[in-house]
Amino acid sequence: MPSHARPVRRPAARGPLSAHVLAVLEGAHGPAPQIPRSPDPDDLHLALHLCYELHYGGLPGVPDDLEWDPHLIAFRRVLERWFEADLFDRVGPPVPSQDVRAALPELIRHDDGPSLSSWMVEHGTLTAMREFVVHRSSYQLKEADPHSFAIPRLPRAAKAGLVSIQAGEYGVEHPDHVMHSELFARTMRDLGLDDRPNAYLDQLPATTLANGNLVSMFGLNRRWRGALVGHLSVFEMTSVEPMGRYSAALERMGASPVARRFYDVHVMADAVHEVVAVEEMAGPLADEEPELAGDILFGARAVIASEGAFAQHLLDAFAEGRSSLLEPVAA
Ligand SMILES: [Fe+2]
Ligand SMILES: [Fe+2]
Repeated sequence: MPSHARPVRRPAARGPLSAHVLAVLEGAHGPAPQIPRSPDPDDLHLALHLCYELHYGGLPGVPDDLEWDPHLIAFRRVLERWFEADLFDRVGPPVPSQDVRAALPELIRHDDGPSLSSWMVEHGTLTAMREFVVHRSSYQLKEADPHSFAIPRLPRAAKAGLVSIQAGEYGVEHPDHVMHSELFARTMRDLGLDDRPNAYLDQLPATTLANGNLVSMFGLNRRWRGALVGHLSVFEMTSVEPMGRYSAALERMGASPVARRFYDVHVMADAVHEVVAVEEMAGPLADEEPELAGDILFGARAVIASEGAFAQHLLDAFAEGRSSLLEPVAA
């Protein structure tokens, strides 16, 4: 049976917040729980992830109509308020800014977070690389989709810049028009991994789910359109060297060119996208809507911090010789 014909199993609740969302998805309508002062991040980010999935490909067995269920939307907003406050604590709230074109590369230059790709190319094992791919699958199997929510929300020049990046993500530059998410699915299959959406959801820790929830929150809230553009800018501006290192790591591990293709394509495509991101998207957005400049840089700071926490989580686990997932993947 092809893997897509088999349903993905229902995820297990991790606490009262995710249990409530799962119950609503199954048709129950009990009262929403209060968010504790310090919620369990695994519980909170699973709850938020499940809410957001309804706006993408949906969840198996869940009616499409629940996407706009008022109970779920109200609960999602409560979860988002907690997530926003947590982000403000970690990277500071948006502050008015002037020169986005200079500030974006400056933020990246001052990022002193750990380099997962450098570790992977020097010390990584195939087991570590497969775990890394499993973590990334929660975003990469729908790569580009969260940023596409910005298309109707941006003014003219910034919209054109974003669409030109997205065209590349959706495969326009590929000879066979294969989109990056499909290249990633091929990498997964070539590494013997399950490429069905959410196949590994029960194994993904809060730090991984938070990465995906960050871009979904920015994408699904028009008021965060500036932050979404800052997020995409950082993605494009920090891609070329790490992607080259992941490809080199896979080559050293004996992986096939099919497994490496996703990374190789990004080395080429993002050499262009990193320029477009600043000169044709973030810069023009700040010109057209100067009040969004602070949000653009907030989105950039938030993704740098979120990716840094993710890298540190994996490096800590690998250094201690344990799985970075909640349960290891089968060999
Ligand atoms: Fe891409
Ligand atoms: Fe790109």
